[in-house]
Amino acid sequence: MCGIVGYVGQADSVPIILEGLKRLEYRGYDSAGVAVHNEGGLSVRKSVGRLTALEEELSERPLRGQPGIGHTRWATHGEPSGVNSHPHTDTSGGIAVVHNGIIENYQELSDALEADGHIFHSETDTEVIPHLIEHELKNGDGAFLDALLTALKKATGAYALGILSSDEPDKLYAARLGSPLIVGLGEEGYFIASDVPAIINRARRVIYLEDGEIAVLSSNGVEVFKLDGTPVTPEIKDVDLKPESAERAGFETFMLKEIHEQPRVLRALLEKNLDDSGHIAMPEISLDPNQIKKLRRVMIVSCGTAYHAAMYGRLLLENMTGLAVETDLGSEFRYRYPKIDRDTLFIAVSQSGETADTLASMRLARKKGCRILSICNVPGSTLVRESDSVIFTDCGPEIGVASTKAYTAQLLAFALLSIYLGRVRGELSEINEAEFIRALRRIPDAIHYVLERSDLVQKIADKHHDGPSALYIGRRYNYPTALEGALKNKEISYQHAEGYAAGEMKHGPIALINEYLPVVCICTKTEDEVYEKMMSNIREVEARHGRIIAVATDGDKTADKIAEDIIYVPDTREDLSPIVNVVALQLLAYYAAQSRGTDIDKPRNLAKSVTVE
Ligand code: M6R
Repeated sequence: MCGIVGYVGQADSVPIILEGLKRLEYRGYDSAGVAVHNEGGLSVRKSVGRLTALEEELSERPLRGQPGIGHTRWATHGEPSGVNSHPHTDTSGGIAVVHNGIIENYQELSDALEADGHIFHSETDTEVIPHLIEHELKNGDGAFLDALLTALKKATGAYALGILSSDEPDKLYAARLGSPLIVGLGEEGYFIASDVPAIINRARRVIYLEDGEIAVLSSNGVEVFKLDGTPVTPEIKDVDLKPESAERAGFETFMLKEIHEQPRVLRALLEKNLDDSGHIAMPEISLDPNQIKKLRRVMIVSCGTAYHAAMYGRLLLENMTGLAVETDLGSEFRYRYPKIDRDTLFIAVSQSGETADTLASMRLARKKGCRILSICNVPGSTLVRESDSVIFTDCGPEIGVASTKAYTAQLLAFALLSIYLGRVRGELSEINEAEFIRALRRIPDAIHYVLERSDLVQKIADKHHDGPSALYIGRRYNYPTALEGALKNKEISYQHAEGYAAGEMKHGPIALINEYLPVVCICTKTEDEVYEKMMSNIREVEARHGRIIAVATDGDKTADKIAEDIIYVPDTREDLSPIVNVVALQLLAYYAAQSRGTDIDKPRNLAKSVTVE
């Protein structure tokens, strides 16, 4: 949520900050703003709405200067408005702050500051930070760094901050606690950003700030301190992302590009985790085989799309490892009293590695003594840094707010993990492993086949997009696929959509069915044991005149007879079919959203990375 960027160096900071904000806009687009140093002191420009509004404002009232900070907002405290937009300033206008996170005790702090004469203008939690620093400057030794350290010790909650002070026109301050923040080291200066893609073409070496660290950037370099003022020698890492990975590469949206990247991403992920003779290798897993043998339980926790991946993972792991497996949503799990211990493997799944509820759940599991394995896409993210072992999904930046390639990579990661744990625990034979891997190798081509049918999917989406609602149903491995298809549809097309386990239909949702309701039925794999059950459920829809859209295995004549529209996918074993089937649903949602004219990469009210609770 919210993206921040900052620059100090010899160049004019405004174009650099706007470029960075463009790449961070997926984190929030309720408003945008920038502050720079120039001859007049600190100057601020802000606009409500998309970044283009700020660009227009800056073309009418140009701004030059450096250092500079910028912000793109996903509103938490206070509606999207000019006054609530960042950067926020203190009473004197000499301190400007951009913030990602939530200052939980802001009310108590601002009440005290107001009583002391500070004047607040916004409804945000952020505004308290510049005032608090101003207060500490007045009441301390007058050194900005000391005032900042004291102020931050008083603030509770989460923050990534970029701060400018008119008294220190050559410096940019940054601080991190619970929200991601990196420092970039480039040829033309130093940068701060919420994530690497924001500065990818300007800095190839980065410092991932740790919680409780403060960075002071100037043209001469970067210094890092702990909150108690102790200097830190930060680890500098090379960035191995290519600048073009953050571009649309000719596709009309990032989401469409990311959907089309799936065959390549999955092929690479598969090969990375096999050895030269084609056996499972999982080189990144650093869990001791003896510990794996002693495991009694697996607990998988995640949010949103990653939760659907977890549901799929549960079924596979249960089937292939002999372990008891449970899943939960991060926002629920963190408030439970879970019966987990050192014999439990805790798996956190997250594209960003920064989702607040997933992180809090992981920390709870850590306290209970669990080993932590994460499935994550972002190297250097908080989740990665706090896990015992990581399976990287290696998708490259996923910029469209709706997750696509990260999801199928998470499903594949679970498939690989299931083979690995199954083999180590002696639950899976070499023959079954080989068969499974052969089927996995066919997945990228099967997805390619679905992508080649995009025109047909678009026609189907066009036909059904205008109703108020849609239902998605599936069973067993494809029940999570139904949930994910519905989530994709609602988040980008704003059509209400519900995913349901097909067997549950008669317990309620069947009441919704009439001749207007599109029902997307995932009924692939004709010989699997739930296929017949699924067909009975589809007939229940047919009997009530629902509009059946089937996702079925190539050549399935039964499905063809019942369905009004059909999307064929290649024959894939049932336990791997979700990786292929969901691609048809991603396209269906995509084209429905296109027909409905929504902003596909930046759907309303959403942000890519949910770093607040
Ligand atoms: O970064 P994470 O995978 O932890 O994010 C979890 C969810 O916020 C995310 O999957 C969200 O549901 C997506 N917008 C779905 O497309």
